[in-house]
Amino acid sequence: MLPKVNFNETPAFKYLSNHYIEIAPQSMRDLFKSDPQRFEKFSISNGDILFDYSKNRINDETMALLLQLARECKVKEAIQAMFSGDLINETENRAVLHTALRSQDANPIQVDGEDIKPEIKKVLKQMESFCDRILSGEWKGYTGKEITDVVNIGIGGSDLGPVMVTEALKAYKTRLNLHFVSNVDGTQMVETLKPLNPETTLFLVASKTFTTQETMLNAFSAKDWLLKSGGKESDVSKHFVALSTNTEAVKKFGIDTDNMFVFWNWVGGRYSLWSAIGLSIALGIGYKNFEELLKGANAADVHFQESEFEENIPVIMGVLGVWYNNFFDSETQAILPYDQYMHRFAAYFQQGDMESNGKNVDRNGKNVDYQTGPIIWGEPGTNGQHAFYQLIHQGTKLIPCDFIAPAQSHNPIGAHHTFLLSNFFAQTEALMNGKTEEEVYKELQDSGLSEDAIKKLLPYKVFDGNRPTNSFLIKKINPYTLGTLIAYYEHKIFVQGIIWNIFSFDQWGVELGKQLANKILPELENNDEVNTHDTSTNGLINQFKKWR
Ligand code: F6P
Repeated sequence: MLPKVNFNETPAFKYLSNHYIEIAPQSMRDLFKSDPQRFEKFSISNGDILFDYSKNRINDETMALLLQLARECKVKEAIQAMFSGDLINETENRAVLHTALRSQDANPIQVDGEDIKPEIKKVLKQMESFCDRILSGEWKGYTGKEITDVVNIGIGGSDLGPVMVTEALKAYKTRLNLHFVSNVDGTQMVETLKPLNPETTLFLVASKTFTTQETMLNAFSAKDWLLKSGGKESDVSKHFVALSTNTEAVKKFGIDTDNMFVFWNWVGGRYSLWSAIGLSIALGIGYKNFEELLKGANAADVHFQESEFEENIPVIMGVLGVWYNNFFDSETQAILPYDQYMHRFAAYFQQGDMESNGKNVDRNGKNVDYQTGPIIWGEPGTNGQHAFYQLIHQGTKLIPCDFIAPAQSHNPIGAHHTFLLSNFFAQTEALMNGKTEEEVYKELQDSGLSEDAIKKLLPYKVFDGNRPTNSFLIKKINPYTLGTLIAYYEHKIFVQGIIWNIFSFDQWGVELGKQLANKILPELENNDEVNTHDTSTNGLINQFKKWR
């Protein structure tokens, strides 16, 4: 069971409310000037990852109080409960053990009185030998040809993690071409299949439940494509494998359970890339690299469990988020990777964070009277700079940003990486320092403008600054460091969920739309006028029926 502390009733929350009044008007510029040790104090190096959180609106007291808040909300006890397999996903009566999938020690972890480690190992072995067979060419398609293309069919957690990781680690690509189909919009399937040859294509049907409408329909269409292209029913086993917890549904679909890679209900969908759902990753970057990804994530797990809060990266990320969300009333958080390969990182954590902490009922069953999960968004730099950074710099909203960059590029052509990184450093500096009236005045004067012209232009060119950022500088994005980084973010979400006293591992909010879609589906099967809904929904459906 998780602790059920109302965070806004803790002593630390009250101290923080007073402390906020003191900190809010202070500028980070001044905080840096008055403390030469600020970077050393507010940054943590762990292996090849440097986490700098000194450009935040904090001082020593802020951090002490935020960490006190974490302690009073019993974050330590909650971490212990998660890692030891307690049923902390109480609304679904499940343990939360994605961390067990990447555990590197032999210590048993019990679920329902059974050690889950041997089963995890078994599936990893199965994945390894499958990767060997596919990559070596031993596994043949129905006409005896090697597999060249792999299509992962899944959605949400059964898609976003594999997409994000295989993109982020494209530099490690095997000979296989990976494709992902998630949307039930037939366009994605049709466009994906257009250049593919059914004789050399392998489909991974990835679904924890194996009941998700989008995935099932896409899987049926893919099977249809294979059969229509000359394959026979008996050839399906050479071209379809399943990644799921639901053996019965896999059988029913017609996939041989010998071709099934299982995982378990204690793996949340959005935390499942470490499980059999990661098969596309293992095929795409090689099994050994997939293992490195697990090892890197495990390093973050050990850090999260063992480090004091003062040195604990996910705990600090978590409390800083609470600081802006609940005291500065920030509503969003941007994730800005300065690495083109990481272009789906923000999208991945959009689900990770928003499906986890987008909740309005606390663990006592009461509606919360405070803000919970932030809106997560972001795009890679420098593209974002030329699109939405204007609002971050000079808009009316406070948007805390995470900047992420590798020190070494996989593609060090010319001066590109130096240019890229100069932007990375410049942005966090600019967001923090801003530009004062005096500085703008001098700049305009030096450019030879008249006093009148300066007066007119000056207010538009002033930057308030004081916009908070975290920076992750990573020696190189490789499977290990990426695994660590992902796990830091996962644990940050966990810390915030504990502090906000919500359940982070269910997702009832996505059910309503699904239920209604299932109700509407049969109504679309004929051309009769519909009048069972509100007038807007009726109107839209009836127009659709006329136009289709
Ligand atoms: O969007 C809701 C959700 O249940 C996610 O949590 C999950 O990742 C996704 O649907 C896909 O579910 P499944 O893997 O069972 O097909």
